[in-house]
Amino acid sequence: MALNEKQLVDRLYPRPVRYFTQIGSTNDVALEWMRQGAASGSVVVADEQVKGKGRLGRVWHTPPGTALIVSVILYPSVTNLSQITMLGALAIYDMVKQLGIAQVGIKWPNDVMLNGLKVSGILPEAVWENGKLLGVVLGMGINVRIDFSNTELANKAISIEPALGRRTERIDLLVNLLEHIDSWSDRIGSDILFDTWKSRLITLGQNVHVNTSDKEVAGLAQTVNSDGALLIQKSDGQIERVIAGDIALG
Ligand code: BTN
Repeated sequence: MALNEKQLVDRLYPRPVRYFTQIGSTNDVALEWMRQGAASGSVVVADEQVKGKGRLGRVWHTPPGTALIVSVILYPSVTNLSQITMLGALAIYDMVKQLGIAQVGIKWPNDVMLNGLKVSGILPEAVWENGKLLGVVLGMGINVRIDFSNTELANKAISIEPALGRRTERIDLLVNLLEHIDSWSDRIGSDILFDTWKSRLITLGQNVHVNTSDKEVAGLAQTVNSDGALLIQKSDGQIERVIAGDIALG
């Protein structure tokens, strides 16, 4: 069943909300809304997303009634911009943990994992005007009841409900998620945000392969910088700094 718009607006009041039963991409609508002057914390929510955007130019398709698809409009300072992606991952982590799921972690940089399988994706998009940061749209897609069995993602992705073993309402998840977004937003720029994100990374200490846009880096995922970059120690002992890429263990 689709989300109920009235219930959504009531539960999220006084936060400005735009809801769509079907949308191309919640991020695109939120980016446009931000350019028109949306208030901080405004959200775009959709039941079905048909042109969803994933990291590294990928497609993020979401069938109706199966996921939490939301974009939040935020206005961080440039200095705190790199913490936006950490903030999103932390908020989803907290929301999932609060449901009582035990095996939760963050795969660098921002994939929340349940039992080693990806439950959510995050796509932050910043808007610059005349060289100044206008704001950021923090797009989040959380698998609630997408059935990945017999698909090519069966051993990569998971939904909340099968992990939990019971039904959970997307509206409740959204209210909870936004509370965590607000709470981490209050701490943006702080050491606690970075330190908590770092402590929840399941990637550190593992041998990894990272595909960046122009090269492949293999080695030991040693640590992360305060800007979120991953430091990989290669077999020749050199340290390579990676800011974005697809990561695999081994
Ligand atoms: C990833 O590739 O891991 C990131 C996926 C991000 C998907 C979300 S769904 C809501 C928002 N709108 C989009 O078009 N993308 C993000």
